[in-house]
Amino acid sequence: MGEGRAADGSRDDVKGVRAAIVGTGNIAGAHVAALRRMGGRAEVVAAVDVDGARAGAFCSEHGIPRSYVDIAEMLAEEAPDLVHVCTPPQSHRALSVQCMEAGAWVLCEKPLCGSLEEMDAIEDAERATGKFCASVYQWRFGSGARHLKALISSGELGRPLAGLCQTTWYRDADYYQVPWRGKWETELGGATMGQGIHAMDLFLWLMGDWREVRAMIGTLDRDIEVEDVSMATVLLENGAMGSVVNSVLSPRQRTHLRFDLQEATVEVDSLYGYTNADWSYSIPDGASTADSLARWRKIPEESLSMHAGQVADLLDCMQEDRRPSTSGTEARRTLEFITGLYKAAMTGEPVLRGSIEKGDPFYHRLNGAPVEGT
Ligand SMILES: NC(=O)c1ccc[n+]([C@@H]2O[C@H](COP(=O)([O-])OP(=O)(O)OC[C@H]3O[C@@H](n4cnc5c(N)ncnc54)[C@H](O)[C@@H]3O)[C@@H](O)[C@H]2O)c1
Repeated sequence: MGEGRAADGSRDDVKGVRAAIVGTGNIAGAHVAALRRMGGRAEVVAAVDVDGARAGAFCSEHGIPRSYVDIAEMLAEEAPDLVHVCTPPQSHRALSVQCMEAGAWVLCEKPLCGSLEEMDAIEDAERATGKFCASVYQWRFGSGARHLKALISSGELGRPLAGLCQTTWYRDADYYQVPWRGKWETELGGATMGQGIHAMDLFLWLMGDWREVRAMIGTLDRDIEVEDVSMATVLLENGAMGSVVNSVLSPRQRTHLRFDLQEATVEVDSLYGYTNADWSYSIPDGASTADSLARWRKIPEESLSMHAGQVADLLDCMQEDRRPSTSGTEARRTLEFITGLYKAAMTGEPVLRGSIEKGDPFYHRLNGAPVEGT
């Protein structure tokens, strides 16, 4: 892996992947904690924040050797192999592309970017640089989700038929006092893009590609520009149907996903993450699959999950020089669904997957606002 320069100009001798953090706010600590669980496979060599005092305090707190206020300087000095982008949403595309152009792989916090146009720009940068940009979708990386993915892929649960995908969370007025939140330009969306994205990504990853979405969105109670509730109905390519609810107005918070397949109902009921105990498998009374149920319920031991599971997977991909599992088309599926949901809600028309192309206002901006020159 690459070599960087220490503050005194000398080369340091990091053995594993040289990782850097950009944006040292709320979520950045989870990335450092995840990297520190990788044994000697990765080391955090630097952190960057436009707020220098915050970057310095973060480095002191986490024992990170060097802090920067300028990402270009950090990239030149440190030559990181991997950059974790943990800044507010509107900066993700530009920073991710800048890091790839400097020779680093990227793990970018959700939402990866603010439009299909930006997604295309990220994929263009991947092709041009030979580096990859993975989106944080940490819900795919727990034992429970991986176990269900394997069971669905094996076909033994039968075809998916119906599902529920519910993110009913609570964000009070204070939450929206942070200047970048609650606005299309900077948060890139509301309850759908900011909160429901985790469960919707897991739902679509497990249920399969989507074909059509119909939706409603509303701003019912918070003093924000973006939606605080969205409701959608989705038709999947395999013919299954799903119901999606995203809310930041729900005092009793819960994340609930339900998958009704021919042979079993599988559910996960939790809040910001899950353990094996949060998953349940049910079959009809007297079903011939009773012998299989105990095996289906036997989820492999938890190992690294959520951010740590995702980072471990990414390090494997870097080592083997293969595309990360939450990049490219695997990241696009969820972004395209969210784009379709917003378009369906704002136009009142169903939206088909693949129909939002260059020139469509929703290709350029999630709220369909006109862009000069298009
Ligand atoms: N995966 C999850 O579960 C999860 C949870 C919370 C937040 N997030 C996401 O993480 C991202 C950051 O959220 P947060 O709550 O940590 O935000 P935050 O506001 O607490 O921190 C963001 C930091 O980035 C810095 N920053 C802004 N622009 C920058 C730039 N161009 N270069 C360097 N630093 C810059 C800010 O000064 C700030 O310190 C968001 O996209 C959010 O949606 C993800």
